[in-house]
Amino acid sequence: MKKIIVAIDGWSSCGKSTLARQMAKALGYIYIDSGAMYRAITLYFLRNHINWENSKEVEKALKNIELDFRPNDQTAQNEIYLNDENVEYLIRDLVVAEKVSDVAAIQEVRAFAVAQQQKLGKKKGIIMDGRDIGTVVFPKAELKLFMTADNVVRIERRFKELVEKNPNITIKEVAENIQMRDYIDSNRAISPLRQAKDAIVLDNTNLTPEEQLKKSLKLVKEKTG
Ligand code: DC
Repeated sequence: MKKIIVAIDGWSSCGKSTLARQMAKALGYIYIDSGAMYRAITLYFLRNHINWENSKEVEKALKNIELDFRPNDQTAQNEIYLNDENVEYLIRDLVVAEKVSDVAAIQEVRAFAVAQQQKLGKKKGIIMDGRDIGTVVFPKAELKLFMTADNVVRIERRFKELVEKNPNITIKEVAENIQMRDYIDSNRAISPLRQAKDAIVLDNTNLTPEEQLKKSLKLVKEKTG
């Protein structure tokens, strides 16, 4: 069967990565979490006290960053490595989440990440999620989904996920972080979050993960025949 590129964009905590993972598994495609790249870069900047308002410093720092995705032997799912260190779990921390939108708004950072994302897409059979995948990274992707969900539902879902790792986290902190990221991601000058003209909107407020997967696989089928 013909292999395609599936681009999934949308707001923070809409379940993009859950859907992308399930689709990749069902189709035998490779899933790439582009947000993980921005998160890993942010982790590097924080650890190394990089002043990201200084573009020279950013350029220099990016030269020392190597990112790659390697499958976890047990889950077979791709995990992100920063200079050979598995940072898949560290990058989900709220400390990183609080800064990642600022870092992702930097032109040099985006050029660095987008070039690598486009390289990964050369093979087809790829599902990538993010904010600019259908608009900038793969404007010719055969299938573009734009995901959205009710705000309260998004906050509750993310809270449930984070509270397992950090029992002290409050729903207010999670809500503020989601709101702030949505604002910065959709108002930045370079590649802001936008729905591509040819994207199909998937509102999953009232959909179970199974229903959402079924709908999406049907859309893939329509493209691949
Ligand atoms: O999907 P996520 O929450 O892991 O993304 C982390 C941040 O990275 C988010 O604030 C937006 C940014 N991002 C982006 O600007 N472009 C992408 N393609 C993916 C994520």
